[in-house]
Amino acid sequence: KIIVLDFGSQYTQVIARRIRECGVYSEILPYNTKASKIKGDDLCGVILSGGPASVLSPKSPRPDPKVFEMGVPVLGICYGLQLMGKMLGGEVVSSKQREYGHGKLSFKSSDSLLLKGIKSPMTVWNSHGDRLVKLPKGFKAIATTENSEYALIENKERKFFGMQFHPEVAHTIGGIEIIKNFLFGICGCKGDWNMSDYVERAIAKIRETVGDKKVILGLSGGVDSSVAAALIHKAIGNQLTCVFVDNGLLRKNERKSVEDLFKRNFKMRFITAKAAPLFLKKLKGVTDPERKRKIIGKTFVEVFDKTVKSIGQVDFLAQGTLYPDVIESVSIDGNPASLIKSHHNVGGLPKRMKLKLLEPLRELFKDEVRALGKELGLAHDVLWRHPFPGPGLGVRVVGEITKKRLDVLREADAILIEEMKSSGYYGKVWQSFAVFLPVKTVGVMGDERTYDNVIALRIVESLDAMTADWAHIPHELLAKISNRIINEVKGVNRVCLDISSKPPSTIEWE
Ligand code: XMP
Repeated sequence: KIIVLDFGSQYTQVIARRIRECGVYSEILPYNTKASKIKGDDLCGVILSGGPASVLSPKSPRPDPKVFEMGVPVLGICYGLQLMGKMLGGEVVSSKQREYGHGKLSFKSSDSLLLKGIKSPMTVWNSHGDRLVKLPKGFKAIATTENSEYALIENKERKFFGMQFHPEVAHTIGGIEIIKNFLFGICGCKGDWNMSDYVERAIAKIRETVGDKKVILGLSGGVDSSVAAALIHKAIGNQLTCVFVDNGLLRKNERKSVEDLFKRNFKMRFITAKAAPLFLKKLKGVTDPERKRKIIGKTFVEVFDKTVKSIGQVDFLAQGTLYPDVIESVSIDGNPASLIKSHHNVGGLPKRMKLKLLEPLRELFKDEVRALGKELGLAHDVLWRHPFPGPGLGVRVVGEITKKRLDVLREADAILIEEMKSSGYYGKVWQSFAVFLPVKTVGVMGDERTYDNVIALRIVESLDAMTADWAHIPHELLAKISNRIINEVKGVNRVCLDISSKPPSTIEWE
């Protein structure tokens, strides 16, 4: 495996990801991890990431110096290069001009294994302030840019490399070739890592962490918690109990399908907290979106807490936190702080419940979580489910939430989803759902005048939910969905299509 030591670069995750895409297992560790912990039979190489600090500052983050004595190749990227330069006896100066953006990398020597098969010059992506001005002993410059004589350096004998630019970002054309050369040509990685290896590794780790203790997991039925549940269950069986909170704000058949899968199919210990009446009681008369969200969140914590207490001694709370949910930041004054953005749906739970956290998906990206879920036998439908907000249909019934409105919305939403799936459009969009509008309009059905509610269709394309665009769905499909909703759902006589983008709108209506 390859260890990436994290000095706080925004690209650290990307490095790890590129390496795994090459079929090589990689793990990110905090920059100050002891060499003895990094070392292991399967260690092939170490990468020192970039970072926001300056090596010229006395308090700047440094790795354990023994990292350079482990006998494995080391690659320093950006801040990593400067660290290498500084720690191994070269000289770094701060440069007045930040080099940022595209640069042209010209090769000085063609015999470096790192540049094998790559043509000079290369377009690279830079983002740095300090500059290496004197090479450490045993190093040679193998490529330069307009601004930097030492853009790429090598100590051939010790297999140490440093680069001023970022090979992991897409703006560096051919960057992936450099990474491959490092992995396969220099570190001797095999490239045979895959998800089933990961499952074994993850299971062993869970068993080691948990021992004979008990674990609780809040299962929502979404991709992350489902995969976490399947993985932990495979590792520790009945030491895991899943708690599913029925808050009355679920979609049609949602509770049954979650229970069928985990309770009956996987045979997990599974508790459904039937709390719909409690949620609806607390939400009665509330129309303000933020208040609705707060009430739903608070009630969730109460119900979850009470359910967990009812099952006796529990030591761990498992969460489906993914890599992108985890922000690890390195503070510049040398006092590293690990900031964790906890899962917003269960935020505050572990502290309140005095539980230890178990987050077996912390190192994975979404697509890897899906691959893992597939390996564990979860169905395509579960793994490719659209995101569903924690407050559920509570933020999709605009205005006051009532059981009647929820029922109408559930029926309309089920038709939309059914048609999206059967037409193949479900898999092409980021999210598609129905929204209940507390507006009544006049219609005519048969010979009768109707005065019923409006359903809005929200169908969006997005890469990460930060921005989104309304999806251009064929008119024939929209017509079918609209006809079916108006004809089949009692209480609806009008369907609208939401054609707003995010920003300035949001994906959800509340
Ligand atoms: P917005 O409406 O902010 O939504 O454009 C962005 C994405 O986040 C989802 N969402 C939530 N997910 N808890 C969640 O787990 C929430 O409270 C929540 N609110 C919005 C939304 O469905 C979309 O994918």
